[in-house]
Amino acid sequence: MGSQGSDGCSAKVKLPEIKFTKLFIHGQFVDAVSGKTFDTIDPRTGDRIAKIAEGDKADIDLAVKAAREAFDHGPWPRMTGSARGKLMFKLADLMDQNVEEITSLDALNAGKPLILVKLVDFSDAVNALRYFAGAADKIHGETLKMSGSLLGHTWREPIGVVGLIIPWNFPTTLLFGCLAPALAAGCTVVVKPAEQTPLTALYYGHLAKLAGIPDGVINVVTGFGPTAGAALSSHMDVDKISFTGSTKVGRLIMEAAAKSNLKSVTLELGGKSPLIIFDDADLDMAVELARAAVFFNKGEICVAGSRVLVQEGIYDEFLKKLIVKTKEWVVGDPFDPQVNQGPQIDRRQFEKVLAYIECGKKEGATLVTGGKACGSKGYYIEPTIFADVKDDMTIAKEEIFGPVMSLMKFKTIEEAIERANKTMYGLAAGIVTKNLNVANTVSRSVRAGTIWVNCYFAFDADCPYGGYKMSGFGRANGLNALDNYLQVKSVVTPLYNSPWL
Ligand code: NAI
Ligand code: MG
Repeated sequence: MGSQGSDGCSAKVKLPEIKFTKLFIHGQFVDAVSGKTFDTIDPRTGDRIAKIAEGDKADIDLAVKAAREAFDHGPWPRMTGSARGKLMFKLADLMDQNVEEITSLDALNAGKPLILVKLVDFSDAVNALRYFAGAADKIHGETLKMSGSLLGHTWREPIGVVGLIIPWNFPTTLLFGCLAPALAAGCTVVVKPAEQTPLTALYYGHLAKLAGIPDGVINVVTGFGPTAGAALSSHMDVDKISFTGSTKVGRLIMEAAAKSNLKSVTLELGGKSPLIIFDDADLDMAVELARAAVFFNKGEICVAGSRVLVQEGIYDEFLKKLIVKTKEWVVGDPFDPQVNQGPQIDRRQFEKVLAYIECGKKEGATLVTGGKACGSKGYYIEPTIFADVKDDMTIAKEEIFGPVMSLMKFKTIEEAIERANKTMYGLAAGIVTKNLNVANTVSRSVRAGTIWVNCYFAFDADCPYGGYKMSGFGRANGLNALDNYLQVKSVVTPLYNSPWL
């Protein structure tokens, strides 16, 4: 554990006050129709932080009704893009003014180092909000010169009421990755945050109201996936679902869409991303990247570089340096500024990751460091490295979503490409080399949505991001992300008094 003692929990931390625990529907905080609540848990201890309203189908119905009304009759989709953008900028300013409180809530609820929540989660989210706020008044169609004497033009119109189903690993970043373009497009939304991390989404409901975003534009229903989430994805009055989470639930969302109103769906799902390190790599940089690629956010990140392929010429030296660096990686209380890695999100994920570690040992991979839980309470796991991992081992194939690296040796560039692609996923890949030809060849041959050359986790609001293969479809970030929330309407008129009817 880190420097704060064996229970993984600093004594002196001032925890944020929990102000919002009810559903946010049509601009009001309300109890669930059933009156039920569920506990949101502190992953440092397993103790309850607060009781949160447990929304269900009845609450989703109310939230969708509010969003539908705001879309069909309210000002939001009808106001100018610049007016919408102005309110979004206001929301971003309010987020900045409340940065300490917001980031403490995410650090507490998701077990993430507070410093990193500020530097990564929060700043990515606010940047995305401002990026799309600036895009809100730049959404326009095309003028078409059609055959004959017809004039055509297109409108890009908001798609309607959007359901945003968000996971727990980046409660703020992944929410704004969808919410910002949806708002810019003129959509209204119902947010279903993950049951593990409801706190910040409710806080953003409060800030949206303060910013002057009209009631009903943003609604937040906290609750569980199979109840609230399923009610949202199968709702007849929802026009679109943006989902980030497991591949298994992604499939359920598509099924629900197919069986209800054929709503459009964008999916950002799991991954098993390769980080490929060539003999000519800067070794220290490669070690830093490999360590961060899988241990950052305790491995709870869909783009985690969980398969590290290292060329044979540097493999042994790389491993030696990596073990030293991994032992310096501090696990402990996310509120301690020295800490690199907090607890896993909950008991279920904690047990799942430990089961994968057992599976790695059983299938014959070599455990070189880590491999155990740590601390006397909470869900802490040591950063763990398996060497000599074979492609057909479970730990090489399945998304572990924990601090577990699978290290593999390769000989040639062709072999690296083939093995990198030997996965049902295709979210990201990393390449470490000084050779431009190698970088170009590999980046064009690996089937993944984002390729990082001599870097990892380099995200930006302007850089599209999303999956190939079973990692999903549709792109977040970049101006094209607006297309997820827009429809194209073609309008055709005769230029002259022509016979077209
Ligand atoms: P999950 O996919 O069940 O949860 C994500 C969101 O989907 C949550 O808001 C949840 O309430 C909702 N959900 C669950 N079942 C639903 C349903 N039937 N209909 C509609 N919404 C539903 O993920 P879970 O179970 O928390 O984690 C399992 C694994 O999924 C992880 O170990 C990891 O491999 C992967 N995962 C990937 C994420 C990513 O960023 N791509 C994020 C979270 C999990
Ligand atoms: Mg699940």
